[in-house]
Amino acid sequence: MLKDARILVTGGCGFIGSNFILHLLREYPGCRVVNLDKLTYASNPNNLRHVQDDARYRFVEGDICDAKLVDRLMADVDAVFNFAAETHVDRSLLEAGSFITTDVYGTYVLLEAARRYGNVRRFVQISTDEVYGDMPEGQSARETDALRPRSPYAASKAGGDMQCLAFFETYGLPAIITRAANNIGPRQHVEKVVPLFATSALRDQPLPLYGDGRQVRDWLYVEDHCRALDLIARAGEPGEVYNIGAGNYQENINVAEAILDLLEKPRSLIRFVTDRQGHDRRYSLDSSKLRTVGWSPRYDFHSALANTVAWYRENRWWWAPIYADALFQEYFERQYGERLAQGVPYDLRTST
Ligand code: NAD
Ligand code: TYD
Repeated sequence: MLKDARILVTGGCGFIGSNFILHLLREYPGCRVVNLDKLTYASNPNNLRHVQDDARYRFVEGDICDAKLVDRLMADVDAVFNFAAETHVDRSLLEAGSFITTDVYGTYVLLEAARRYGNVRRFVQISTDEVYGDMPEGQSARETDALRPRSPYAASKAGGDMQCLAFFETYGLPAIITRAANNIGPRQHVEKVVPLFATSALRDQPLPLYGDGRQVRDWLYVEDHCRALDLIARAGEPGEVYNIGAGNYQENINVAEAILDLLEKPRSLIRFVTDRQGHDRRYSLDSSKLRTVGWSPRYDFHSALANTVAWYRENRWWWAPIYADALFQEYFERQYGERLAQGVPYDLRTST
């Protein structure tokens, strides 16, 4: 299916999309990849500099909401992987409009073009465990569960998922939805928690831990995610949903401590700060459906985290310019300025 295929990847200059394009070009020598990316603040064209001269790869700067452009690109495509999205929960709490535009309307524009041409054999919608909402201890979301998104980001992604299912049911468009857990690995923007904590530690700056730090996430190494997407595109059933979780559960405080230990930095860098509004306490996926298709993760939490932290330690050139960017500084101040000023030091909180 992917061998010799013409593949449209959207959002390929972001974190997972860039890892996936590198995966495709490595695994499928005969494939051709078009990367449509708007180059938002979260992207980094450097992510794909190693393949920019590869004849099999073409970059198109543009918006998935631009129907004319999407229509042109879709004309000779066999498979679509839609990674393009606004992705940061905290930003969605400040302004949700761009999330709804890209994650819902943009997905519709892609689906509509794919339906019109009829040559698309797989439309893979990259979604998230966050659409299921908060999972009580002892429970894991199954693909058939009701969606209970609680943040504007999660609600927008759920809207995109629903469009895909509607296009499958109505027009027979071979859409597949994947819902993955929190990814870590090289080239993730520093606004997300693991890169933020790793780069803050490397800069000897405080690590802002929300609330009591006992929230639980399942940490999936990006390479394992890419292998899962590859398999699902080839062996998954159209109209189906596949959860992708590694089972690498950790509380945020353990993640912060592990990052500091790996970098040999003091735990006193941790600051407990005001919690995120509507913060989901726990995510958990039941991924048995995908495991029966033949996928299992290769990275446990510690190997995934060690690889990720090592990458940020060795690639300061990649992330240091983000901290020097005026718009990022403005965002950082808005998000963390007051919180950090009023933050509770690690030793005070953990010794009581
Ligand atoms: P990212 O924020 O790193 O990258 C998103 C990319 O999409 C950027 O390159 C950006 O420029 C591009 N983009 C944004 N709006 C666009 C538009 N309108 N048109 C074209 N391009 C646009 O995101 P990521 O972490 O790589 O996530 C990729 C996908 O995976 C998203 O759909 C996200 O919801 C999903 N996902 C992410 C995670 C995670 O932990 N990062 C987990 C599960 C699912
Ligand atoms: P994040 O990387 O934003 O992913 P998501 O909210 O999509 O799971 O956050 C992961 C966890 O880390 C989440 O429980 C919120 C927490 N967190 C902090 O404690 N401090 C921070 O500065 C950030 C960005 C996140």
